[in-house]
Amino acid sequence: MKALILSGGTGTRLRPLTYSNAKQLLPLANKPILFYIIEKIVRVGITEIGIIVGDTHEEVKKIVGSGERWGVDITYIYQEKSLGLAHAVGIAEKFLGDSDFIMLLGDNVFNMELDELITNFNSRKANSTILLYKVDNPSQFGVAVVDAGSIIKLVEKPKEFISDLIITGIYVFDNSIFKAIENIAPSPRGELEITDAIQKQLEMGGRVTYGLVQGWWKDTGKLEDMLEANMLILDEMEYKCVNYGDSSSSITGKVRVGENVIIKDSIVQGPVDIEQDTIIEGSCIGPYTSIGRGARIKDCEIDNCIILNDVHLESINKRISKSLIGKKVSIQGGVRNRRFLNSFFVGDNSQIYL
Ligand code: DAU
Repeated sequence: MKALILSGGTGTRLRPLTYSNAKQLLPLANKPILFYIIEKIVRVGITEIGIIVGDTHEEVKKIVGSGERWGVDITYIYQEKSLGLAHAVGIAEKFLGDSDFIMLLGDNVFNMELDELITNFNSRKANSTILLYKVDNPSQFGVAVVDAGSIIKLVEKPKEFISDLIITGIYVFDNSIFKAIENIAPSPRGELEITDAIQKQLEMGGRVTYGLVQGWWKDTGKLEDMLEANMLILDEMEYKCVNYGDSSSSITGKVRVGENVIIKDSIVQGPVDIEQDTIIEGSCIGPYTSIGRGARIKDCEIDNCIILNDVHLESINKRISKSLIGKKVSIQGGVRNRRFLNSFFVGDNSQIYL
């Protein structure tokens, strides 16, 4: 079996961050989202991975590389325009050949392993097997109608409620998917939808089976979802509290501290992940916060945040919460007054004086 990851697209809902970063490379607990997906694929023993890339292809290739670090071969497949998930699968046909393949969307994170879905696909001799997840508001997703354990209908972003089981970005296919893709037309949003292609497989007499998410699953397309995914991943960290910092600092809960980090006169309340070369002084950090490499944080209170590399935060007079702060951002404040909260969603290289 091979694997295909979709990492093209534009990431409009995560602007301004995605003006300068591929959304699939934004970090959760200081690790790019794509790495979590690749690691899951590697754990089921797949060694040939294709990655669909678009405008951000150079950044993705630079950060992900050849696959050597995981002992796998990565092939990049360039998609000139985001013409839809089924279009992306179609252009990967040469790479995939006759092989069955697992396909994952590069902006999805989840805490289950992939073995069960692959076993479901193999043992039930399916043409497609998809992973479903029950949600309260399914209108932003593809949905599946099921009956007695079988899928009877699939619709992409239905206008009217037909099911609360959404299609996650995790699918297993055999090569009959290519024939189905040839027989669909673009959807109202102008894309070739993989949901329509699977529906077409059903209509052509194909066998489509499904599994249900065990644990949690998140599409990280929006700020709230990124912060929640960061929280869920930090919660599952296996790090123990580190005995670190000078005697004037208190570090409790699950905390990972990278190399060459200085923590002075501060309180760190895990779960927290702090990358290397960072200085934290006179600050309260956490819970649920990840801080990228090379940060300088002085006289601040921060919780529930994702902070990218080389950020400078100093003397900010309100607690910073639920924020996503881009690379090389500098925010400097004045007099401290902690009665209110600050919430930032700041793109790379911004400078803010409060
Ligand atoms: O997240 C689950 C949902 O993902 C499913 O419920 C939907 O059925 C499915 O169509 C998809 O919907 P989205 O509208 O969320 O897809 P999005 O445009 O965000 O693209 C998902 C990923 O695929 C993202 O990493 C970008 C990549 N992509 C997208 C398109 C349209 C490509 O590589 N090429 C493309 O042409």
